[in-house]
Amino acid sequence: MLIPQTQEPAAGPCVLVIFGASGDLTKRLLLPALYNLKIFGLLPEKFAVVGVARRKSDDSAFRQKLGEAVRELGTQKVDDTVWAKLELGIFYCAGDYDEPGTYKRLCDLLGRMKKERGTAGNVLFYLATQATSFAPIVVSLDTAGLLKEEGDQWRRVVVEKPFGRDLASAQELNRQLGAILHEDQIFRIDHYLGKEAVQNLLVFRFGNAFLEPAWNRNYIDNVQITVAESLGVEARGAFYETAGALRDVLENHVVMLLALVSMEPPTVLHGDALRNEMVKVLESILPFRSAEEVFANTARGQYDEGDAGGKHLPAYRAAERVAADSVVETYAALRLEVNNWRWAGVPFYLRTGKALAKASTQIVIEFKCTPLMLFACGDGPVPPGPNRLIFDIQPHQGITVHFRGKTPGAGMHTQQVAMDFDYKDFGKTPRATGYETLLYDAMMGDNTLFHRADLVEAAWKVATPILEAWAARPPTDFPNYAPGSQGPASADELLSRDDRQWWAPEPE
Ligand code: BG6
Repeated sequence: MLIPQTQEPAAGPCVLVIFGASGDLTKRLLLPALYNLKIFGLLPEKFAVVGVARRKSDDSAFRQKLGEAVRELGTQKVDDTVWAKLELGIFYCAGDYDEPGTYKRLCDLLGRMKKERGTAGNVLFYLATQATSFAPIVVSLDTAGLLKEEGDQWRRVVVEKPFGRDLASAQELNRQLGAILHEDQIFRIDHYLGKEAVQNLLVFRFGNAFLEPAWNRNYIDNVQITVAESLGVEARGAFYETAGALRDVLENHVVMLLALVSMEPPTVLHGDALRNEMVKVLESILPFRSAEEVFANTARGQYDEGDAGGKHLPAYRAAERVAADSVVETYAALRLEVNNWRWAGVPFYLRTGKALAKASTQIVIEFKCTPLMLFACGDGPVPPGPNRLIFDIQPHQGITVHFRGKTPGAGMHTQQVAMDFDYKDFGKTPRATGYETLLYDAMMGDNTLFHRADLVEAAWKVATPILEAWAARPPTDFPNYAPGSQGPASADELLSRDDRQWWAPEPE
């Protein structure tokens, strides 16, 4: 059994109520994460999980289903004794989300949990439903008196993505939630911020002094952030038709990586200090002021039929529950500028896509070249590459610095070499889903890694003008990239126009 290398205290007594408990997220990620937390000793002793969903079921069928899921989809081998203990605290509450009876039954069950399992009246509601149900569920919880905090008893709500479809809808959802809950009770989750290598970005930037003098427009030529997936949309066509790559991944996961890379150092690392800096830097992104600016600085694509990630994929348009003439993008790239003292003039290139050559989430910091080239290039006709600092977020986790070194032998010939830090250097650490940290933080009441209202709005301010311009001028060239490729040619042109190139994920 693997245990983590740090030992935080277990969270205090509480119930986790999952709305959307029969969905994919619960079985693929939430339950495996809870199991890991249990093994790590971070779950409270006095704890219960209540699943709420429309589907008729009961405690024992629900336990059995989750038991099978955690064995099949968990990140580590399940220990039967640990699971047996955990499953005793799992309960099911069937009901429609718009039916007052559901909340009455939930209320009774929570009362029972408090008495029988000692959960102290603390409840973390997790909204893993369709986005259209978020606000109505919160209204119903409030009407049923389930959001009232009395004495030391806390009530918190975790809201999954997508948080809105554009700036106006995100603002409206913030308004609806804010009318009922304090900001401190709302935990807008982005699972990227729960990833170890993403948190390590903060440590690398702010736990080391050597980088800071070079972390600016004087030394950095450009920044590239890539979230590439080799899978297609699989069975999520119905959802994806309402989203597209820009809404699904770029607007949230990629933009948050941009915020972490470019923000100013916070004065402390918790609560609002970090989020203030993230908001500040996103607010300083130069907005696109016209459709022409959008088209000059973005690229979109949709995959055709072909092979990627060792599988044959049907074209996006042939995927289950996708329109045969769909213009939804499965690839999005853009060029942004962060208009502040540190970054003015440095382009940030962001891209994400499905069915690409290689699954890889990576941040590349490309440094400027030396002012004077003293050495001959010993590695053939290729011009000497610039220094690059690469953060590999997944699947490989590590940090690499590419720099020039002397080729052994006579003469001053040089070549590109690399210095590597690999997460494996820490030894065998437990594989996690990314949800462990965030679930634990929410139980502890620590919202540092969750999005504040203004942070989600700042991210939508970046994406909304693009969504509007793209919607007004639908693409005529879809499908325009082959599975297993690096995406559409227009994404390469975004950089070649600036005399730059994407750094493809390095082979491992
Ligand atoms: C989700 C998107 O938010 O992130 C998915 O809805 C995407 O479409 C996923 O596949 C990527 O997350 P990860 O952790 O697999 O990189």
